[in-house]
Amino acid sequence: MQSPNKRKILVTCALPYANGSIHLGHLLEHIQTDIWVRFQRMRGHETYFVCADDAHGTPIMLKAQELGVSPEEMIAGVREEHMADFSDFMISFDNYHSTHSDENRAFASEIYNKLNESGYIKSRTISQLYDPEKGMFLPDRFVKGTCPTCKSEDENGDSCDNCGATYSPTEVINPRSVVSGATPILKDSEHFFFDLPAFEKMLKDWTTGGSLQEEMANKLNEWFEQGLQQWDISRDSPYFGFEIPNAPGKFFYVWLDAPIGYMGSFKNLCDKENIDFNSYWKENSEAELYHFIGKDIIYFHSLFWPAMLEGAGYRKPTSVFAHGFVTVNGAKMSKSKGTFIKGRTFLDHLNPEYLRYYYAAKLTNRIDDLDLNLEDFAQRVNSDLVGKVVNIASRCASFITKRFDGMLSANIDDQALANEVTSAGDRLADLYENREFAKAMREIMALADKVNEYIAIKEPWVLIKDESKQQEVHDVCSLGINLFRTLMIYLKPVLPKLAQSTEAFLNDELLWHGHQTLLTNHKINKFKALLQRVDMDKVEAMVTASKENLEEAKPAPTGPIADDPISPEIQFDDFAKIDLRIAKIVKAEHVEKADKLLRLELALDNDGNETRQVFAGIKSAYQPEDLEGKLTVMVANLAPRKMRFGMSEGMVLAAGPGGKDLWILNPDDGAQPGMRVK
Ligand code: MSP
Ligand code: ZN
Repeated sequence: MQSPNKRKILVTCALPYANGSIHLGHLLEHIQTDIWVRFQRMRGHETYFVCADDAHGTPIMLKAQELGVSPEEMIAGVREEHMADFSDFMISFDNYHSTHSDENRAFASEIYNKLNESGYIKSRTISQLYDPEKGMFLPDRFVKGTCPTCKSEDENGDSCDNCGATYSPTEVINPRSVVSGATPILKDSEHFFFDLPAFEKMLKDWTTGGSLQEEMANKLNEWFEQGLQQWDISRDSPYFGFEIPNAPGKFFYVWLDAPIGYMGSFKNLCDKENIDFNSYWKENSEAELYHFIGKDIIYFHSLFWPAMLEGAGYRKPTSVFAHGFVTVNGAKMSKSKGTFIKGRTFLDHLNPEYLRYYYAAKLTNRIDDLDLNLEDFAQRVNSDLVGKVVNIASRCASFITKRFDGMLSANIDDQALANEVTSAGDRLADLYENREFAKAMREIMALADKVNEYIAIKEPWVLIKDESKQQEVHDVCSLGINLFRTLMIYLKPVLPKLAQSTEAFLNDELLWHGHQTLLTNHKINKFKALLQRVDMDKVEAMVTASKENLEEAKPAPTGPIADDPISPEIQFDDFAKIDLRIAKIVKAEHVEKADKLLRLELALDNDGNETRQVFAGIKSAYQPEDLEGKLTVMVANLAPRKMRFGMSEGMVLAAGPGGKDLWILNPDDGAQPGMRVK
C-alpha cells in the first residue's frame, strides 16, 4: 500500500433534519466529505463514513401533525428520500441511520446518566412562553409579534428582520403563538442543564491543540471571553424525542441526542459488519474521528459535544472541519428566484458529477462561503472536464483503436512530460489530505493543459497521413491516453462515475499508487463519449423548476396534501359556500416545463358549453390520456388564480398521500356533468 501506516478513520457529516429536502447547501457538505473519504479509502486507510437523519424536535413534531401522520411515519419517508438523493450524488456512506433509533436512545441515556452521576447535570425552574391552546411550550421561532426595539410588526420571537435587534421572546410586544395564534402566557417548569463551564479548561486545551481551523479557534476564544453558559438540555412534553431517564414528561432537547447520533449510526454499522465500536470511541482511542459541519453549528460541535464526550468517558473528535455556506449567483439561496435548488431538482436536469466537480474546484479548508454562479458553473465544467481532461482521451483514442488494434505502445515518447504528471501525486495527496480541493483541481487542470499542448504540438492527426510517422503517432497517442489515465486517478475521489467509465475504457482499475506507473503494451477498449457538455438550457430549466416547486407549495389548485399549510377550522357556512360539482375531463395535457402540473379542461355540462381550465398537480399520478373522458369532482366557484402557465379557474379534488398514490375523486355511475355534490 501507498502509506506505511494504515490509519483508522471515522468520518461524519452533520445530520440533516428530517423535515425538509436535501438542497444544494447540504450537498456542499456531503460532497466535500465524500471526496475526502474516497481519497482516504483510495490510499488504503480503513475509513468509515456515517450519517443519519436528525429526527427529533418541535418542528418535526409539528410538521407531522400538519401532515396528519405520526412523526415515525414522516421521518421514515423523509429518510428514504434523503438516502435516494445522497446515493444519486454518489455519497458513499457506509451507513445512514436515524437519531430516532434504539442505538441512539441507549447512548443518549448512558451519556446522560454518566454526566448526571458525575454531577454535571443541574436542575432549576425557568419561566417560558407557553401556548395555552395547544398546551405546549413555544420555542423562540414559534413566537411572533411586534419588535420591542423598532416596533415593526410580525417579527420573529428572538430577532427582528427589520432592525436586526435580538431579544428574548418574553420581551416581544403582543406576542402570539405561530402554532395556534393564541396569546402565549408565561409558565414555570423545571429544566435540566449541562454544566458546560465545568469543562472550560479541557476545552481550552483541546482548542489550542492545533487540530482546529484557525477561524474556528478564534471563534472559540471569543466564546471563552464571553464566558461559557450552562446549557438547557431538557424539553417538556409534548415533544418528539427520547424521554429522560427517571424524569417522566421531560425529553432530551434535540441537540443533545443529535451528535450522539454519530455514535448511534456507527454502532448500527458495527453490529452489521462486526466492527469493534470501542476501538473507535473509547478514551485514548488511536482511531481518528472527524466531523464535517457547516459554520452555523460550530458551537454545538466544538463546545457541547467534546464536553459531553469527555464527561461521559469517551474520546473527543480529532478535529471538526467547518465549511461556509453556499450562495447561488452571489446571493443567499432564494425560493422566489429559483435558486433554492433541491438535490432532486438538480438530478432531474443535470449530471451530479458536474456539481461534485464545481464544488471541488471551489472548496478550500477555510470557512468562507462558496458561490455557485450558474454561468460560471457551466463554463467551468465544460472547459475543465470536457475541454481539458476528457478531450485528451477523445483526441488520442480513435488512432489507438483504429490503427494499432487497441494496444498502447511500449515506448514513452516524452519522459519529461510523463514524469511531471506522474510525480504530482504526492503533492496532490497532501492537498486532498488538507482539504485544499480547489488547489488540487487547479494543479490537475494545469497538467491537463500541458498534455493538451503536447498533443497539439505533435499533431498526430497530421502525422498519421505520413506512412513513415506511424510509430510516432502510436507513441504520442499512447502517452496521451496514459496521462489521461493518471489525471483520472487524481480525479477519482471527485468523479467516481467518470472514473468508472474510464476504468472500463482503459481496461484497468484506477488505484492511487497507480499514478507512478504508465501502461505499456496494454490493450484498451473502444472509446465512448465519457461526458456531455453542460447545457445552459438545462440549467435554466432547473431554475424554472425550482420556482415551480415553490408555486406548488403555496395553496395550489390541487397539490399533494403534504404541501398544504395547517387548515384552520371552518364553520358550516364556510363549507356551504363551496360549490362542488361533477365535471367531465374533456382534455388533459402536459404543461411545458412543469414537473407536477397537468392542464385540464373541465366541462360542467354535457355539450361542453361551460368549460373551465384548471392546472392540477397530479402529473405524478396520472397520464393525461388516462384522464380524458373521466368524471371528477371540482370546486366550481373558486376565484380564478393567475399561474405562471395561465389562469386556473377551479380545483379538482384528489386524495391520497401524494406522489404516485393520488386518486382523483371519481363519482359513481349516474353522475352527470354539472350536478351539484353535497
Ligand atoms: N440537524 C442539524 C445538525 C445536527 S449534527 C449532529 C442541522 N441540520 S440541517 O439540515 O439544518 O443542516 C445540515 C448541515 O447542512 C449543516 O452542517 C449545515 O451547516 C449545512 N447547511 C445547510 N444549509 C447550508 C448552505 N446553504 N450551505 C452550506 N451548508 C449548509 O443543522
Ligand atoms: Zn426591530
